[in-house]
Amino acid sequence: MSTETSTTAAIDYQELAKRHLWLHFSRMGAYDRGAEVPVIVKGDGCYVWDEHGNRYLDALSALFCVNIGHGRADIAQAGADQAKELGFFTTWSYAHPRAIELAAKVASLAPGDLNRVFFTSGGGESVETALKVARQYHKLTGNPNKTKFIAREVAYHGTTLGALTATGVTGLRQPFEPFTPGGCHVANTNLYRLAPGYGVENLAEAVAHRIEFEGPETVAAVIMEPVQNAGGCFVPPDGYWQRVREICDQYDVLLISDEVICSWGRLGTWFGAQRFDYQPDIITTAKGLTSSYAPMGAMIASDRVMEPFLQDSNSFVHGFTFGGHPMAAAVALANIAAFEDEGIFENVRENEPHLRGMLESLRDIPIVGDVRGAGYFHAIELVKDRDTKESFGHEEAETLLRGYLSGELFRRGLICRADDRGDPVIQFAPPLIAGPEQFEEIEAVLRPVLEEASRRMGSH
Ligand SMILES: Cc1ncc(COP(=O)(O)O)c(C=O)c1O
Repeated sequence: MSTETSTTAAIDYQELAKRHLWLHFSRMGAYDRGAEVPVIVKGDGCYVWDEHGNRYLDALSALFCVNIGHGRADIAQAGADQAKELGFFTTWSYAHPRAIELAAKVASLAPGDLNRVFFTSGGGESVETALKVARQYHKLTGNPNKTKFIAREVAYHGTTLGALTATGVTGLRQPFEPFTPGGCHVANTNLYRLAPGYGVENLAEAVAHRIEFEGPETVAAVIMEPVQNAGGCFVPPDGYWQRVREICDQYDVLLISDEVICSWGRLGTWFGAQRFDYQPDIITTAKGLTSSYAPMGAMIASDRVMEPFLQDSNSFVHGFTFGGHPMAAAVALANIAAFEDEGIFENVRENEPHLRGMLESLRDIPIVGDVRGAGYFHAIELVKDRDTKESFGHEEAETLLRGYLSGELFRRGLICRADDRGDPVIQFAPPLIAGPEQFEEIEAVLRPVLEEASRRMGSH
């Protein structure tokens, strides 16, 4: 069925959205039964507006995406200008100036010898690309049985069937099984609830144990985020990444740093690996590369990883039509120039303690169990009992997050993320231009809502 829309009459977005638009990760039945679809129509700086004219503080940068902030017509304009010159050409065996310039720029900013840039259309494609590079790298270097990937529990690496191999969230995997074999999972760096048998000092050993268990000759790569998003901004303990690097070297396993969220200033540095001072073999990125003014991602590989692909007639038989799209590349170049010219990362480094301090100040509310994160990427974990760290059961978490918190925070003009892929958390990742004024605004909404949530849930 087609629905006619008039360009002159006001469009009923609610009706059309409910009838035709399939929202991602959404319980669509709720909209079918009458719930309102939140329709965001405009953005400026740290704020967005819905179709009714209500203003929201976007404390999630849409989805960890709009690092430079909303409403940057100049950055979008770079794409439009590019379209006048060359709207599209492919990077399948051709090149064009913007893809070349952007690849060189990204390589100059990436740590160490990460000099080869393979463009994609988003994070999942970047992860998919990295996993395939890792497998083929080992085949080309005489280790055809190195096919497995080690990721961490409750980690999110994307939804394509290959990336799901690495994603460690049971609920996101089960509906689609079986998929590509080879995904193994180890303890993550949830320092608030350490995995049995591990302490802060030996968490990285989980990776070594798993490689030994699987057989080192079968393991292709380890894939992890600098700060793990799902579960609520798990930061690595001191020395963790350095030890993971050593383990990867010891067993000839590639180290993939999945920085779809943690790059482009999110942690106050170009790449998360720079914040924690380690050298990956591959970085996967997307989102903030263009501040999401155009869909684009990248897989960045080291000279060592590239080497076998340069031999004889070898080739990486993989690609996406839109990888390196000229308009997206032009937008990325303008976005990176703005990061540099406007001191955006300095703002993050200067104000990170203010964001952290504001969230820490909420610890007097009984439901606030933990505050953690780095840069402009933080989470609060919600608990039933602070002394015992008792968490909420499934039904209670539903009541808390979906029955109250998500709706109430949004109603009061705050966009953040109430999430229960691990234990219940609320996450904050504001645009990198945010500062104390926005943090005060977050607190003004958050404090009364968390106090009420505490009372409702009987937290103590
Ligand atoms: C660490 C990580 N990897 C991969 C992805 C998948 O990215 P995309 O949604 O662009 O496919 C995400 C998305 O949030 C992510 O956070």
